[in-house]
Amino acid sequence: MDNILIDKEYWDYMYTTDIQLRYPNESLIRFLKSNFREINKNLKYLDLGCGNGTNGFMAANLGFDVYLIDYSASAIDEAKRTNTSIDNPVSDNQIVVGDIVKELPVPDDYFDVVVSLLTLYHLTQEQLGKALLNIKRKLKKGGVLLCDFTSKESILFKGTKEKTGEGSYYLKNEHWMTTSRDKKIDTAITCSFYDEDELRMIFDKHFSKVKIVKSQSPMAMSLDKDEERTDPAYWIMAKNN
Ligand SMILES: C[S@@+](CC[C@H](N)C(=O)[O-])C[C@H]1O[C@@H](n2cnc3c(N)ncnc32)[C@H](O)[C@@H]1O
Repeated sequence: MDNILIDKEYWDYMYTTDIQLRYPNESLIRFLKSNFREINKNLKYLDLGCGNGTNGFMAANLGFDVYLIDYSASAIDEAKRTNTSIDNPVSDNQIVVGDIVKELPVPDDYFDVVVSLLTLYHLTQEQLGKALLNIKRKLKKGGVLLCDFTSKESILFKGTKEKTGEGSYYLKNEHWMTTSRDKKIDTAITCSFYDEDELRMIFDKHFSKVKIVKSQSPMAMSLDKDEERTDPAYWIMAKNN
């Protein structure tokens, strides 16, 4: 495929534009506040696929000792730039480039919580297995992972796509890649879709306690558009024992 931004090339491009995720995830705030009653710097928080760092900076404000990792160098540049202007900055050397599927540049057996939102479903199913082994290695005993996945009922599943493997596709020129549409750049982003039984099988292999809930996000709702823009997703909380 020529002249097409695929996966990391797309994210690298996106974080140099102004189309970025700007608001922390409200469900994440609730999750952190209800699962960690006394938040302080002894609690180590790792955000994988941190993007511009919005969620991680919120966690730093709550009091966690935060580490941010993304494989897009422009995401990390953007996170470092924002970090200079916030009230509770993260240590600069804790905002680093790293690939979830490869060796992660943070200590093993170290984190109380690993958060990976809107990210793990951008891996193929094979990559997800490697990512979960990596995440498990980074979590302390008793530490938890919070992540989310798209469901097959998601609007994304209905988009233009090309199968790349079992349950995995390239999504082509999706609506949320607005910058590419404006600039007429072709894009293809890996997206894997699961049902609850598949997710349970995958996570039970790696974690001792796994909770899966299905939720409907109002994120993409709009009164101005006719098309249905609901986006059912699975939230997963998994404990490392
Ligand atoms: C949709 S964004 C989500 C950003 C952020 N987690 C949020 O919830 O706003 C997906 C992010 O995952 C990153 N990503 C995708 N695959 C990755 C990988 N293998 N290793 C590290 N980061 C990855 C992308 O660069 C991008 O920043």
